[in-house]
Amino acid sequence: MTDLDTLRDHLLAAAAEAPALDSLEAVRVGALGKQGQVTGLLKSLGGMTPDQRQAEGPRIHGLREAVTAAIADRRAALEAQALGRRLASERLDLTLPVDLAPPGRVHPVSQVMDELAEIFADLGFAVASGPEIEDDWHNFTALNIPDVHPARAMHDTFYCERTVPARTDGDGQSPSSNVGAADAGRGERMVLRTHTSPVQIRAMMDGPPPLRVIAPGRVYRSDWDATHTPMFHQVEGLVIDRDIHLGHLKWTLETFLKAFFERDDIVLRLRPSYFPFTEPSAEVDVGWHLDKGRRRLGGQEGWMELLGSGMVHPRVIAACGLDPAEWQGFAFGVGVDRLAMLKYGMDDLRPFFEADGRWTRHYGFSALDLPTLSGGLSA
Ligand code: PHE
Repeated sequence: MTDLDTLRDHLLAAAAEAPALDSLEAVRVGALGKQGQVTGLLKSLGGMTPDQRQAEGPRIHGLREAVTAAIADRRAALEAQALGRRLASERLDLTLPVDLAPPGRVHPVSQVMDELAEIFADLGFAVASGPEIEDDWHNFTALNIPDVHPARAMHDTFYCERTVPARTDGDGQSPSSNVGAADAGRGERMVLRTHTSPVQIRAMMDGPPPLRVIAPGRVYRSDWDATHTPMFHQVEGLVIDRDIHLGHLKWTLETFLKAFFERDDIVLRLRPSYFPFTEPSAEVDVGWHLDKGRRRLGGQEGWMELLGSGMVHPRVIAACGLDPAEWQGFAFGVGVDRLAMLKYGMDDLRPFFEADGRWTRHYGFSALDLPTLSGGLSA
């Protein structure tokens, strides 16, 4: 046997017997690496006479190919073994029962928002959103809220420091001295949005009508008592189309409230009211009845005020670049927290936002019970 045959037998055996990928790599480097034995032989071809090279060349190249192939075979085998071991050790037992009582609970506000999305999706509404730090124009001006409107006063609204550059006409005043100024321009003074109605503006400017959207989200007002917190939640509804009238508004609200409260005896009363961004405007009252001394929605032993609504004011439609002669619609806004309190029987709003696990465990919902219209909104 020549030296070359010995080396060949030795390297093929080393490759075939390498117990793991790292020892196989050591075999490869020893044979085919820069300083490897086979590499050395290949280099030696350069110093041979043409005759020697003709004799040795094919043998040395054959050796390199054989070693390369043996290493590749062994690598494939070792990798298959490793995969087999992983599959055996990481087996999933799909027959294990689901944990039916996972410890986390869904907050009632999230639950109600999911219920709202489910109900309105069924009526063809998409979910829209907008920023919580909103500019004065979207929050007020475009909604036809005049500068003298009390909602603009420091008292109710959280004003932010100005964060965007002043306009070119150079108004260097501080935000607070600017409150109520007629020229508080778009994109200058930022506020924490006081309602979800600015999303009406964003939806109208974003997409061509017809539009059917709801916009659930956080809103902010400087208030604090059992039924008011500085942050709370609203859901806005907006429909813009041709030939929309108050009847559509009333039917939509009635359908929504019957589905949400899961009662057929929900009765609505539309009471003339005023909002700058709707004309006509209606406060919507819902009838209640007494059940073991507690007021429950349904029936009409008495009325409670639930939400604000109306036909979108032509000025608001025009502010969004639409022709009010062509497009009309209705809008409504309702407190999500209030809906949750009425449906699930909490009487204090403040614990909603105190993150006390005992409250959440008591009032929360299972993450596995997704609200669906067919399966039940609050199983
Ligand atoms: N944005 C009003 C509020 O916060 C509610 C509302 C929305 C009224 C849409 C009419 C139409 O009080």
